[in-house]
Amino acid sequence: MADILAIDGEAVARAARVLSDGGLVAIPTETVYGLAADATNGEAVARIFEAKGRPRFNPLICHVSSLAMAERFVDIDPVSRRLIDAFWPGPLTLVMPLKENAPVHPLVTAGLSTLALRMPCGPAAEVIAALDRPLAAPSANTSGRISATTAEAVADDLGGKVDLILDAGPCPVGLESTIIKVEGDAISLLRPGGLAAEEIEALTGKRLRRADQRAAIQAPGMLASHYAPKAGMRLNVHEAEPGEALLSFGPTRAKGAEHASHHLNLSETGNLREAAANLFDYMKKLDATGAATIAVEPIPHQGLGEAINDRLARAAAPRE
Ligand code: TXA
Ligand code: MG
Repeated sequence: MADILAIDGEAVARAARVLSDGGLVAIPTETVYGLAADATNGEAVARIFEAKGRPRFNPLICHVSSLAMAERFVDIDPVSRRLIDAFWPGPLTLVMPLKENAPVHPLVTAGLSTLALRMPCGPAAEVIAALDRPLAAPSANTSGRISATTAEAVADDLGGKVDLILDAGPCPVGLESTIIKVEGDAISLLRPGGLAAEEIEALTGKRLRRADQRAAIQAPGMLASHYAPKAGMRLNVHEAEPGEALLSFGPTRAKGAEHASHHLNLSETGNLREAAANLFDYMKKLDATGAATIAVEPIPHQGLGEAINDRLARAAAPRE
């Protein structure tokens, strides 16, 4: 079982040593815990896929601790630069052209000519600065399972497969980063996440291009089950069935709530930020009750609600 170290200078130094030796470290970020490896070390990156049991080599997000480090690896267009100025460090990932001969291992990019980069807040940035190399880090959970937002959740799931776990308490955002790509005049939203799309639209004055819903359904794999709890998920529930576990949102209750086997409210006051931070933890807690179904009350589809509804839809998608 990996050591769990509370964040301090000694823990940061030890994490940097483990990473420099090609090890895997679970690190806290503001979004979710990441399963991190040195992005320039192919064997270390391969261990990420092995530990997660990821069936395919999807490209991974890399994490940097400074703009200067980002510029060593990618070409930054003017729109991406404005977004970086406004939102880094923070829950925004930008896909940008990889510099020729940038020493990122091709496993990280899945052979693409672009690299997804973000600068996380807090202790993760200290570890990256100490290592002086980017960290490839997907969420620290077994592939297809709910992302970990606490060090305990990482330990339960991957404790035997990582070399070290850093503990900075629960992640304040609780959802993975928003991923965007500037393509000529257009800005595409590749994944809704912890930075509301509206904030990006307000800054750039452009409506983000979302994946066409029908095209997404036609593309195999797009609705593949992800974030899957063991329980079935029923979404947009106005009336709960007796014996279902109920995941609520806001001050008004679904009918039949009193007959739910268990009940948690993502945010009593209807605050989407609070709901995002609680989402994965509450899904896990309700799943652990052994309820056959988790019924979820409607979540408004604005601000962080877009990302919350995205994760819920994936959790509810048919299992492979
Ligand atoms: O909040 C987060 O983003 C978390 C924390 C740990 O930072 N990280 C995370 O990373 O979710 P990861 O590696 O699981 O994200 C991978 C996703 C891919 O499935 C793909 O959608 C997108 O990032 N991606 C990565 N590289 C890409 C590229 N070159 N082009 C397009 N999409 C890319
Ligand atoms: Mg993940």
